[in-house]
This record gives sequence, C-alpha cells and structure tokens, in this order.
Amino acid sequence: MTPDSPWNVDDINLSDLEFWRRPWDEREAAFAALRRDRPISFYESALIEGTSIEMPPSKGYYALTRYRDVATASRYPEVFLSGPGAVSQMDLPPEMVEYFSGMISTDNPKHARLRRIVSNAFSPRNVRTIDDSIERVAEETITRALDEGSGDFMTDIAAPFVLEIICAMMGVPASDYPTVLKCSNVILSNGDREYNPEGTDPLLAVLEAGSTLTTLMEEIGKYRLDNPVDDITSALVNAEIESEKLTHQELASFFVLLVAAGNETTRTALGHALLALSDHPDQKARLLSDFEGRIGTATDEIVRWASPVIWMRRTLSVDYTLSDRELEAGDKVLLFYNSANRDEEIFKDPYDFDVGRTPNDHYGFGAPGPHFCLGAHMARREITVMLRKLYSRAPDIHYVGEPSRLTSSFINGITHLSYEY
Ligand code: HEM
Repeated sequence: MTPDSPWNVDDINLSDLEFWRRPWDEREAAFAALRRDRPISFYESALIEGTSIEMPPSKGYYALTRYRDVATASRYPEVFLSGPGAVSQMDLPPEMVEYFSGMISTDNPKHARLRRIVSNAFSPRNVRTIDDSIERVAEETITRALDEGSGDFMTDIAAPFVLEIICAMMGVPASDYPTVLKCSNVILSNGDREYNPEGTDPLLAVLEAGSTLTTLMEEIGKYRLDNPVDDITSALVNAEIESEKLTHQELASFFVLLVAAGNETTRTALGHALLALSDHPDQKARLLSDFEGRIGTATDEIVRWASPVIWMRRTLSVDYTLSDRELEAGDKVLLFYNSANRDEEIFKDPYDFDVGRTPNDHYGFGAPGPHFCLGAHMARREITVMLRKLYSRAPDIHYVGEPSRLTSSFINGITHLSYEY
C-alpha cells in the first residue's frame, strides 16, 4: 500500500480518539500527509472524560513525525527531557507519578543510576535463564492452544506467552498471573471500552492497577531479599553497584514498567506478525524457506511494521530550534515512532513488508539514546522462538475475519485476532 494521501493536514487531530479508531490505512495516510506538509504540528491535549481525578493544567504538544526530528530529540536528552513524563501527553497528578515514575520517566543522573543497576540484572547470565524460559513457555503455550484448529491468537497464544515469561522472570507466582494481565491491560488501555467498561473512571482504574502491581511487587521483593533464587527480582533487590541499591519504591515502579513495557509491546508485535505474514504469503514463503537465515531481518521488519509503541514524550528544558521550528522551554513533543518508521526519506518502499529488509534502522525500540529499549534483545528472542515453533507446528496458520484493534494513540494494539490452521 502506498498512501497517495487524500488528507488535508488541517483535518487531522491526533488528540481525538476518533482518529485512532480509523482503519490503519487511513491513519498511515494521515501521517504521510503530516510528514509531507506539516512535519511538526501542534495539538491541544486530549481531554480525559469521566474521571474524578483532577489533572494539572496542560498545554498541548508538538507531534514530531519525521525520522530526523525524532532522532534529534533522542540524541539530546539534556534538552529533550523524559523526567516530566515520557508516557503521558499530559502532566500527571502527583498520586499517579508515584506509580509511573519508573526509569522511562527519569533523566540523568537518576536515570543512569537506575539503568546501571537494572542492566546488571539483565546480564548475559540472567538473560540465558530467560532464554530457557522463552523456549519452555512457547512450547507449553502452543501445545495448550493448538488443539481445535482455530482460536483467538491474542488471548490464547500471544498474551499468555509474554505474560508468563515476564512473570516467571520476576518471580510472580502463577496464581497472580491473571491479576498482572488485568492490571497491565488497564494501564495501557487508553480508555478502550473492553478494559474500561462504561461507567468506570479510567484514571482511577489505572491508579488502582498501579497500586495492585506495586503491592504485589513489594511483597515479592521483600521475600526475595532473604530468599534469593535465580530470577530478576532476586538480582535486583540484591544488586549493589557502587553501594547503590534500588529502593522498594524504585523496584515497584520498575516492575510496573516491565509489566507494561514487556507485555503489551511484544504481544502486539506478535499479533502484527500473524497479520503481516498472512497478508503477504510471498514474504511468509521467503521466511519459511530459510527460517534461520531470515528470522533476524524478519523480526526487525515485524517491529518496524507493527511499531507497537506509537510515541514517547519529551519536554524541552531550554528554548531550542528544531528543523526551523522554534520551541520553548516547557514545550512538549511526542516522538511518533510509527511515522518515523514509514519515513520515505529513510526507508525504501516503506509500505512494503519485506522480511529481508536491509538496512533497517527502525525506531520501533526507540531511537539511539539513553532510553533505548532495555528489553529489545528479549523481545527479539520471544518473536523468534514463537514464530519458529508456531510455523513448524502449524505451517498453514493464518488469521480469519477482521482483527479487533485497541482504541489507543499510544499502543498499536490488537485485542482479538481469530486464526485457523
Ligand atoms: C516488541 C517489543 C517492544 C517494543 C516495541 C518496545 C519499545 C520500547 C520503546 C520505544 C522504548 C523507548 C522509550 C523512550 O524512548 O523513552 C522502550 C523502552 C523500554 N523498554 Fe521496551 N519494547 C519492547 C519490549 C520490551 C521488553 C520485552 C521489555 C522488558 C522485559 C522492555 C522494557 C523496556 C524498558 C525497561 C524501557 C525503558 C528504558 C529506559 O528508560 O532506559 N521492552 N521500549
């Protein structure tokens, strides 16, 4: 598909949830028009309806839709801050900052300190343990799901697979998996009705989900301090680098971040993988004819194609001119990774799904900079192992019917995807 964009950029409002309910092709065409005609555009903040929580007054934000502007914003973290909030268009009220102030929304020197402690827990030794768990959980999930010839790929395969890996990695007991899934769905639901039924206060629901996960993590963390085993939580609570340790609060917000960042994103990438490989049988045949040779480039193409995380926010620390646009200290910018990943200046035929795409310097895991995805290696492994097992057990698996998409400007999610094989 090449969007010969019919959009007039004056008609595009990225803050309107209705925009995010439009079919994917229309949204792609809108971003193509923005890159062409108004690559840095301003929008008033979205209003959150039906909440009793008072939000601090919030100016709107600039949408960065070109690859090169997203790159600049990531390259200068001292100008483009994450601290005031990277995952919300609006400034959050203090009670929410408590749960959602994990490392993704911090700057140096605190960010470097957190990242140092946490990266150590993602050391090759720990990652090897995770690798074993990815293999085992993929096998079990597929065996459980593939017995009736059809099902829902998101709820039967993708969601339980990544959930179980994150939970096992953090030492969450199996009896708590459903709670973790529910909380992570609510946190990233963006008001989608499936997770926030009519009449629920969407912000209160997010706050409650954050609080539930925090309590759970505090209990596990305390226990692991005295009873360490081979999991990331034990490594984190006992990690001491230059006499630095994570506080209970830091451990809890890291857990909330991992659960949200690791669950929804990889699940989304897997859903888009089934969609793309069903829609492009030539690419599926190319992949399956030399799986081990092509899965590396295919995985990155899936992440570029899916762009599971649509944007991250930065806040200007000083006045700064970005591609001729004068921005002021305090202005917010959203880095639209989905749009950067279709930028015609960078990607040849960006609307072609090409499992052998090289080079493919996509921004699906963020652009180079201090916040580049900590779980990129793990996500690539999860996608690789799942697709290898899935297509060797059910080579004809494909989706049927219309996918049901998450209504969200933040996560390019799929909630349900029927399959047959
Ligand atoms: C396909 C799957 C994934 C995608 C598309 C993805 C995407 C991203 C993106 C775009 C960022 C950049 C944030 C920014 O620019 O501010 C990020 C950061 C992060 N991701 Fe991922 N992610 C994925 C999987 C995972 C997994 C599996 C984990 C861990 C289990 C994880 C943990 C994190 C963490 C902790 C950060 C914050 C890093 C920091 O602030 O220093 N992600 N991810």
